Amino acid sequence: MSRQHQFDVLIIGTGSAGLMSALQLSDKLSIALIAKDKILEGSSYYAQGGISAVLDADDDFNAHIKDTLATASGLGNETAIRFMVEQAPGAIKSLEKVGVHFTQKSNQYHLTTEGGHSARRVVHVADKTGQSIQTNLFDSVKNKKNITLFENFIAIDLLTKNKHCYGSYILNKSTNEVESFIAHKTIIATGGASKAYLYTSNPDTSTGDGIAMAYRAECDIVNMEFTQFHPTCLYHPHAKSFLISEALRGEGGKLVLQNGAAFMRKYDDRGELAPRDIVARAIDSEMKTNGFDCVYLDISFKEKKWIVKHFPTIYKKCASFGIDISKDPIPVVPAAHYTCGGIQTNLDAQSNITNLYAIGEVAHAGVHGANRMASNSLLECIVFAKSCAKHINQSTFGEVAPKFDNWDASRVTPSQEKVVVSHLWDEIRRIMWNFVGIVRSNKRLNYAQLKLTQIQNEVNEYYRLYLISSDLIELRNLVKIAQIIIQSAITRAESRGLHYNEDYPKQLKEPVDTIIQKS
Ligand code: FAD
Ligand code: SIN
Repeated sequence: MSRQHQFDVLIIGTGSAGLMSALQLSDKLSIALIAKDKILEGSSYYAQGGISAVLDADDDFNAHIKDTLATASGLGNETAIRFMVEQAPGAIKSLEKVGVHFTQKSNQYHLTTEGGHSARRVVHVADKTGQSIQTNLFDSVKNKKNITLFENFIAIDLLTKNKHCYGSYILNKSTNEVESFIAHKTIIATGGASKAYLYTSNPDTSTGDGIAMAYRAECDIVNMEFTQFHPTCLYHPHAKSFLISEALRGEGGKLVLQNGAAFMRKYDDRGELAPRDIVARAIDSEMKTNGFDCVYLDISFKEKKWIVKHFPTIYKKCASFGIDISKDPIPVVPAAHYTCGGIQTNLDAQSNITNLYAIGEVAHAGVHGANRMASNSLLECIVFAKSCAKHINQSTFGEVAPKFDNWDASRVTPSQEKVVVSHLWDEIRRIMWNFVGIVRSNKRLNYAQLKLTQIQNEVNEYYRLYLISSDLIELRNLVKIAQIIIQSAITRAESRGLHYNEDYPKQLKEPVDTIIQKS
C-alpha cells in the first residue's frame, strides 16, 4: 500500500519562487516542499545578471513599466507589470533579510544594465546572483519546523475533481513508489520548459512538468509560442550551453564576427542592448548568411582586474576551456533560455482551478508578454511568491478532500526497452530546435506538428504499458509541451516579439493572447 501524506500546503519546486513562497507562508501551516532533484538545482541557482528594481534616485517606476511593456511587444498586462515593478524594491529587501548581499560600490548598490532597460536598475551578486539567492533562501527554509523537504520526489499529476485541486501524485525516486500528497492548497513552482529544445542555457530540471500537469488538469495555458532564446551561450563542445551574461553587453561588451567586425547596429539602433529577440535573430541571421558556427562577444577592452571582479564565474569557466576573456573574444551562439508563456494566473497567483496556484517561470502572470526583459524573471519569482503566500495565509482551510485512489501500478511491467525513452527525448528536442526555433515558417511548424503527433502516440503507448520512471514522466511532459508550443505558434498568424514566422513577417494591429486548453 503506497504512502499518503496530508499537508496544508504542497509546494512543487524549490527554485527561488518555491523557496520564497514557503518562507512567506504562515508558521501555523504545515508545508511540503518537493524537488525532483537536489533542492538547490533549477534555473534559479544559475542566474547570473541579476534582478531588476527601481533603486536609483534618477530612475522611476514608470520608466521600468514602460521598458517592460515595450519589450513585451504589445502583449504585456500593464496592471500586472505595475504590480511587479512597484513591489520590486520590497522584493530586494526580502532577499536582503534572508542574507543576500548585493554587490555594492561606495556603499550604494552597484546597478548594472541589460537589454531593454533605459536605466541602470539591475542589482546583482557579482555574476552569481542566483547562487546567493538560492543558498540564502534554503538556509532559512531549513530552520522552519513547519516545512518538510522532499528531495528527489517528482510530481506526476495533480489530484483534481470538479475543477478543485487537492494535491498531487508524486514519485519517490529512491523507492520508485508513487505517493499521494493531499493538500488544501497546491503551488506549482516547477520552472520553465526550455529543455524542449536541443540547445538550452537551462539545467535538466526545466522540462515543463508543471505546465503539462496543469494542462492535463484543465488549466488555461497561455502564450507558449514565446520561447526566449538567449543570444549568448558559450560555443564549445564541452560547455553544455553555459550562459555568458547579458550584463557583459550591459558593461559595453561588443558582438563581432570572426574578422572583428561589429554587426548589431545594422539590425537595431540600440546595438548590443536591443531586446533579446532582436539580438538573437541578428546573430542567427549572421550565422546563416555567412555559414558561421558562432559569433563572438568581446569584453577584452576592459582591464583584467575589473573583469575578474565583476564576472568571476564567467572568467573561470571560459578559462577552463582555454579562453582568456581579458584577451580573446568569446565564441557564442543563441540557445533556448526562458518560457514566457505558462499557466494563466492573477495577481494572487491563482489559476483557474480552485486551490491551485502557480508562481515563477511556470506561470503566465502577464508580466512578460511576447518577450521578457532581462532580470525581470527573478523579480517575478519573488514578487508573486509573496503575493501567493499572502493570499493563502488569508484564506480558509475548511474543505475536506474527496477520496482519491492510490496509484495503481498493477497493470504495468518493467520496461526492457528504455532506449525508446532516450531516443524520443532526443528526437523531440531536435525537431523543436530545427523546426520551431528562432525563425519559423508555416511549413516547418506543420512538419513539426505531424512528427509530434506520431511521437505522442508512441509515448502514450509506452506510458500505458510500462512502469513509471522519472525519465518517462519527463518525456510524457516534454512531448505535450512541444505540442502546445507548436499549436500556439501555428495559431499566431503574425510575427511578434520572440515569435517570428517568415510567412507572416508583420505584426497584427490588435495583440491577442494564445490560449490553449485541453480538448
Ligand atoms: P526553477 O529555479 O527552475 O526551479 C524549478 C524547481 O522545480 C526545481 O526545484 C525543480 O527540481 C522543480 N521541479 C520541476 N519539475 C518538478 C516535478 N515534476 N516534481 C518536483 N519538482 C519539480 N533571470 C533573471 O531575472 N536574472 C538573471 O540574471 C537570470 N539569469 C539566468 C541564467 C541562467 C543560466 C538561466 C537558466 C536562467 C536565468 N534567468 C535569470 C531566469 C531565471 O533564473 C528563472 O526564470 C527563474 O530562476 C525560475 O525560477 P523558478 O523558481 O520558477 O524555477
Ligand atoms: C543574463 O545574465 O544574461 C540572464 C539574465 C536574464 O535571463 O534575465
